[in-house]
Amino acid sequence: MSDIDLARGNRIATSSTLQAHWFAAPLAAAVYPWLLALYHGAARAVERGDGAGAWLGAGLALAAALAMPAIAFGAALRLGRIPDPSAAELAARRTALLAVAVPPMFTLTGVGALLLGHPDWDIGFLLVVWAALALRIASADRAPQRQAAPGPAGATGNWRRAHGFGAVLAILFLCFHFSNHLVGLVGPEAHMAVMKVLRVVYRSPFVEPLLIGVFAFMIVTGSRLAWRWSARPMDAARTLQVAGGVFLVWAVISHVNAVLYLARVHFGIDTDWGFAVGAPVGMLLDSWNIRLLPYYLGAVFFVVAHAFCGLRIVMLAHHAPRASADRVLVGGTLFAALLATVIILAMCGLRLHFA
Ligand code: HEM
Repeated sequence: MSDIDLARGNRIATSSTLQAHWFAAPLAAAVYPWLLALYHGAARAVERGDGAGAWLGAGLALAAALAMPAIAFGAALRLGRIPDPSAAELAARRTALLAVAVPPMFTLTGVGALLLGHPDWDIGFLLVVWAALALRIASADRAPQRQAAPGPAGATGNWRRAHGFGAVLAILFLCFHFSNHLVGLVGPEAHMAVMKVLRVVYRSPFVEPLLIGVFAFMIVTGSRLAWRWSARPMDAARTLQVAGGVFLVWAVISHVNAVLYLARVHFGIDTDWGFAVGAPVGMLLDSWNIRLLPYYLGAVFFVVAHAFCGLRIVMLAHHAPRASADRVLVGGTLFAALLATVIILAMCGLRLHFA
């Protein structure tokens, strides 16, 4: 499907000289933690009552941090349109797709550093990763090369079908999971009351291992599909699908590790609303917890948008008109953004009051 758009003249030429935009994504990902630190400094000033300047600084720093994965996505979009990328361009494309996932990567690295007893190692570690990837792009072969033929559709077909089947089970859980988080708009007590009911099912000895198994399966099959698709020319829908998938691989690993190991085993605490929002300080005023905001926002957004990307592919495979399939994706993406925003606002303290 992606080849259709590209054949219509949307492709961009390959380049044999180093291009600045190849490095935009790793650079954006490298500065992301510093922008969150900048936000925290401004948020502390707001807390002290420093006035409008502090509010403006906090807003701008948070917006800048949120813009970093968006810059990486923009780079992935541009690099995805090259039909026969050189090894350097392919490395830049895959690095850009990875850099979109900087929010969950930063969270997972932060938890890893915490568990290792060196909580301040996270930023340095990620800097080394982004520098190594930038070096890899700079040193890779820049000669244009024709990619190996993608192979028959069946080569990825079985993986796609298996991934799609797993997605149905994952989505079923997530419908309840996100509905539970929306109840956070009423308050932590209401959230807990609903969670207690849902836990009877998803924490039962049969369902919980099945659920974890399904997510592990999604990670394995999704990683393989993302690797293969990222070698081919990608249109905007495909880039959204692959970038979202890469984000979700990191987000699910980070999230399941935080819930099942960090909270339950390491800290021995309940994984309730307070755990999710980083109580008592919360997400907005804690230097560590602020990293949860872009990560949760992206996780909810991408999981929904990714599912709609899949639905679009299924519609096209069943000969639905392209315009209808595209409209479904645009609508689904807007819904994803709305849902993610509302859940984050609830987690930041927005409450509904019924008279
Ligand atoms: C705003 C975003 C999210 C928040 C605040 C959140 C919060 C939580 C919390 C508090 C738990 C523990 C539940 C319990 O103790 O019963 C949990 C479990 C879980 N979440 Fe999320 N979640 C979010 C998004 C996601 C996403 C995007 C996924 C998957 C793509 C996901 C998958 C899971 C899974 C698999 C579990 C483990 C369930 C279990 O076996 O206990 N969550 N989440």
